[in-house]
Amino acid sequence: MKIEGSSAAEIRDERVLSGASAEEARLDEKAVLAAYSRWAPVYDWVFGKVFEAGRRRAVEVINAREGRLLEVGVGTGLTLPRYKSHLKVTGVDLSPDMLAVARRRVEDGRIETVEALHEMDATRLAFEDSSFDTVAVMYTITVVPHPGEVLAEVARVLKPGGEAIFVSHFASDGGLYGFVEKLLTPFTKKLGWRPDFPVSRILGRHDLEHVETRRLGILNLFAVVRLRKVG
Ligand SMILES: C[S@@+](CC[C@H](N)C(=O)[O-])C[C@H]1O[C@@H](n2cnc3c(N)ncnc32)[C@H](O)[C@@H]1O
Repeated sequence: MKIEGSSAAEIRDERVLSGASAEEARLDEKAVLAAYSRWAPVYDWVFGKVFEAGRRRAVEVINAREGRLLEVGVGTGLTLPRYKSHLKVTGVDLSPDMLAVARRRVEDGRIETVEALHEMDATRLAFEDSSFDTVAVMYTITVVPHPGEVLAEVARVLKPGGEAIFVSHFASDGGLYGFVEKLLTPFTKKLGWRPDFPVSRILGRHDLEHVETRRLGILNLFAVVRLRKVG
């Protein structure tokens, strides 16, 4: 089992090895918190429809599965009302402002599938190994300061045979989108996500095998990537 104390040390080692200082990590976290504090009041209005195609496909896949679901970077909880009642849902997010909106949504909608919403860093998930049947990471892997660590945590908390579902915009291979991504990259901290994040960064772990990648949305701008925990 890998819980907060021991994993934090490993995480620090990994950051030192990768050249990222603790100060840099803190600054990144501060930037994410500041960005989502600004986005929280208008997030649903700005990103509700824009990101809808990816969420719809992810919910379709998730609802066909059984057991416990973890939504990493649950944000304002836009998908929470759509899960079928046979699922038990836990959501985590770093931003208290985004979570406040999600909590209101759950209370107002009396959404009984949601068991818990926690303020939690996705690089230090306070759950036992093999706790979840499904882990969803929607529009979040390109946002977190340390995506490799989040991926490792997703793999750890998934049960063998469990599925991770990533939805995001991943970097394009050049063309007009590639050009726009390059233009947006200097504004990463202000935007709160990386426009140029390649899908290869979530592939290639020996314990997460690739199941499917489906491109969708306007001009295939988004992708849903499904990975299965080996074991
Ligand atoms: C673009 S929003 C996506 C929200 C939601 N999944 C959706 O589909 O609308 C990204 C979310 O990731 C959260 N986030 C960023 N870094 C995080 C971290 N290290 N741990 C947990 N959540 C994080 C942000 O606070 C934000 O709510």
